[in-house]
Amino acid sequence: AKIKFIEANGAEHEVEAREGQSVMQSAMDNLVPGIVAECGGFASCATCHGYVDEGWLKKLPPPEAAEESMISCAFHVRPNSRLTCQLKVTPALDGMVVRLPVSQT
Ligand code: FES
Repeated sequence: AKIKFIEANGAEHEVEAREGQSVMQSAMDNLVPGIVAECGGFASCATCHGYVDEGWLKKLPPPEAAEESMISCAFHVRPNSRLTCQLKVTPALDGMVVRLPVSQT
């Protein structure tokens, strides 16, 4: 699935994400700036935070409790904020756009 990350400064990075990996991992594998992922994907750092474009938000399962509580610790939170380490890549997400916050701290 192709996923496009857009940095706060407008720089776009389209990556090829493997099914089953997390959206965060696909960003890390492709050295996308703006995703820090300090905890390595355990929903305990909130530095993999991104904004999922509206149309895609409804295709995702709702956040589980761990993500929900960690998101409240993230910076620059918006209604469409998600932790990208908790989003699993599926074929349905092909073309998804994730915008990145101005910073993760
Ligand atoms: Fe730490 Fe996602 S990588 S919460």
